[in-house]
Amino acid sequence: MSGDRPLLLRGILPYGEGEPTDLLVADGVIAELGPALDPTGAEVRDAGGLVALPGFVDLHTHLREPGREDAETIESGSAAAALGGYTAVFAMANTDPVTDTAPAAEHVRRRGREVGLVDVHPVGAVTVGLGGERLAELGSMARSAAEVRVFSDDGVCVHDPLVMRRALEYSTALGAVIAQHAEEPRLTGGAQAHEGEIAARLGLAGWPATAEESIVARDCLLAGAAGARLHVCHVSSAGTVDTLRWARGRGVAVSSEVTPHHLLLTDERLAGFDPVNKVNPPLRTGDDGTALRAALADGVIDCVATDHAPHAPQDKDCEWAAARPGMLGLQTALSVVVETMVRPGLLDWRGVARVMSERPAGVGSVEGQGRPVAAGEPATLVLVDPDATWTVQAARLASLSANTPFEGMTLPARVVTTLLRGRITAEDGAVRG
Ligand code: DOR
Repeated sequence: MSGDRPLLLRGILPYGEGEPTDLLVADGVIAELGPALDPTGAEVRDAGGLVALPGFVDLHTHLREPGREDAETIESGSAAAALGGYTAVFAMANTDPVTDTAPAAEHVRRRGREVGLVDVHPVGAVTVGLGGERLAELGSMARSAAEVRVFSDDGVCVHDPLVMRRALEYSTALGAVIAQHAEEPRLTGGAQAHEGEIAARLGLAGWPATAEESIVARDCLLAGAAGARLHVCHVSSAGTVDTLRWARGRGVAVSSEVTPHHLLLTDERLAGFDPVNKVNPPLRTGDDGTALRAALADGVIDCVATDHAPHAPQDKDCEWAAARPGMLGLQTALSVVVETMVRPGLLDWRGVARVMSERPAGVGSVEGQGRPVAAGEPATLVLVDPDATWTVQAARLASLSANTPFEGMTLPARVVTTLLRGRITAEDGAVRG
């Protein structure tokens, strides 16, 4: 909606299904959905053939503010999110200072509101300073105005099993979830790449998949015993998928996410030693990618999460060993999901809504997001051109950083419009503040 006038979108396809229909937005909600709606008093837009989905929710975004505003800010990251079709993001706690107190979390939430392009939900650290030793004040963050519902030390693993056990136990009383960066540090010291043939050939120290799998197995047991909810960040290996399937079978409340880059890219990208391909967990094998895509299709993996990790040039444009791990993701996520999941027939548009909006909103316990495209629901939506293609150019992305591994790739599907509670936040590649 621009101003207070109702907005009439002509000819959309909810979930890409059925006949084109009209959608009327008024007072922040979907007022009506149906053919040939009366345009009187409304601003009318031709949205013929655009797929309408609930706005995307990213459980895993690094916004770098406070501390590394040269790499990203809440404002620039929110713009990238809105342009990527997101209406809510969860801002990871590994900022400087770390988001490990209620005031720190409130600051992030407040700044997100001021920018106003997406709902910014702070993730609270599990341990003080991400140090892995002392639990942060989970309760005060949860009860604060920031309403923290996701706790994570992402970037590092909560590797001490007793600390993880206590965090899981406390989280149950708070209605929260612990999101684990699963990496047994004793197995990944000095690691630079997936442990396998390619790392061996390139002479890079290996990050074995078992470092992830062993923590996931342990944490599923701990979560099951505590009756707690566990969320596994950026699943990267076929073995982890097997473990998640086993845990689900035992009734453990475990959810998980996969990144677009782990869906599309493999460790074969490492041959050129371009640090843009360095990420944690590392890019793995083609067989891992196949298992991840199958698990996302059948629901063993719940969500796509970007792990949007902007890095300034001095931290990325350097030799491989010195480069920071991480990749941009917010503006390319949908297209990579369409390329890897929709085009091969593994997901339809309803499936995209499930993995990019409904399930992440559920895991993060946010209201008013991930809701059906239906009358009476919030007009928190994304309109997608399913037939468009575009070529990724880092220089044209809204992020302050340029570390996209998809540079120069031509990808399918384009976000045309993003609406947050009836307000257009991004349209035709430009944000609308
Ligand atoms: O590649 C990564 N980058 N993985 C993480 O877990 C952290 C992230 C970052 O903060 O840059």
